Formats: sequence, C-alpha cells, structure tokens
Amino acid sequence: MRIDVFTLFPEAFTWFASQRHVANALAHGHELTCINYRDHTPLSAGQVDDTPFGGGAGMVLRVDVVEAALRARYGTDPVALGGRRRVIALEPGGRLLDDALVDELSAEPELTLLSGRYEGFDERIVEHFASDRVSIGRYVLAGGELAAMVLCDAVLRKLPGSLGHEQSAVEESFSAALEGGPEYPHYTRPADYRGWRVPEVLLSGHHARIAQWRLEQSRSRAADARRAPDAGGQARSDAGPERA
Ligand code: ADE
Repeated sequence: MRIDVFTLFPEAFTWFASQRHVANALAHGHELTCINYRDHTPLSAGQVDDTPFGGGAGMVLRVDVVEAALRARYGTDPVALGGRRRVIALEPGGRLLDDALVDELSAEPELTLLSGRYEGFDERIVEHFASDRVSIGRYVLAGGELAAMVLCDAVLRKLPGSLGHEQSAVEESFSAALEGGPEYPHYTRPADYRGWRVPEVLLSGHHARIAQWRLEQSRSRAADARRAPDAGGQARSDAGPERA
C-alpha cells in the first residue's frame, strides 16, 4: 500500500514512521510519504491559509494551495483524483473510523490523507478533491496530523508483515474471530501479585478450555458495552474475570 499524507507538519510523522509495526510495514514495501502543502503554495509569501469569509476565529487552509500540492504529486487535476484513489479529508464531523472502515481502507492499494489545520479546510477542498471525510472521534483536535497517524496506524497494522506474529491482528478486538466483540483480558507473570491471581484456566495448558474462556470473556465484555455504551464496556459484569 502507498499512503500519501498532505500536511503542514511532515516532521510530526518522523516518530510515527519509526514505530516498529510501521517500520516493519515499510520494510515490506509499503510506503508512507508526507507532502508539505507549504512546499507547493503558489503564493509568493509562502502563505497556506487565510481568514474565514464571514468572520470568525482561526485560519482556513486555502483551496488553491491544496490543489497545487495535489497537482504536484499526481500530475493531474485533483478533481479527477477521487475516482482513482481514496482521498480522505480528516475532519471531526466525518465518518467515524471503526474497524470496518479500517478493513475497507486496508484493502486499498493507495490512500491520500489530507490533514487540515487551524479552523480546517476551505469547504471546496473537501467537496471537489476528497472522496471521503473521516473522523477519529467526536472531539476537535488542533489539526489533522494526529488523526492521520491514528488512521495510518490502524490500517498499517492490518497489512501482512506489519505485526510480528501474523495471528496478532486476527484474534483481536472487533475481529470476526471474536464475533466482532472486544478482546478478552490478558495476563502475564507473576501469576499472583498482591493476591490478584490470574484465572486458573489460563494456567491449565488446556487449549480448548482457554479458547472457550476467552470467547466467553469477549462476549461478556460485548454485553457490558451494549449496556453501558458510553462507558466503553468498562461496566463490571458477574461473568467478569476471576478475582481473588
Ligand atoms: N481534525 C481535527 N479534529 C479531528 C478529528 N476528531 N478527527 C479527524 N480529523 C480531525
């Protein structure tokens, strides 16, 4: 997969690209390229944004600047791009990123992400150049960079070669293996810490019983999440993990 991220802060992605699963994906031939809008601005003062028509706080990313950056990268009128590749504008009000959307995006050969800044995009950017609007949650970040990293992280870790153990992304929260439910609890050594004992079944070495216990835990967490959706499944249930 080739991912292009358009941003005013390409240096923000240096740390991200060095993370193990991202580095693994890149070593396997996937590509992550940052393009700085500022490098392509047609404005002599290097301007990339402007004040909003009608007044209001903040600055808005200019449509001519984004067009110039997209043209420089793809050598075509960006209006025609939407039909050829997913061009995703990161916006708080967009389609919420969830596991189904991540699966959908990880099947694409190429993605273009547009990060906004300040008050966001001139609406004509999204209307004419983007195929999708995507949000990572109903809150407002100061810019789209963190949202772009979240999306890239979730997509790249689904690609072969990204995670060390190929099974890691198969049986995880929201996967078909767990019937779309949250993941079961994990434990490691020590088996007893301050009297908080690891559930005995996990120490039994009995694979079928462990698999059954994990599925039950996942189902129980899913039921909790349905009862208390705003609690993110944190509500306790009687069928929760054994506690000492
Ligand atoms: N840009 C600012 N806030 C955002 C959010 N919550 N999701 C995606 N892009 C954003």
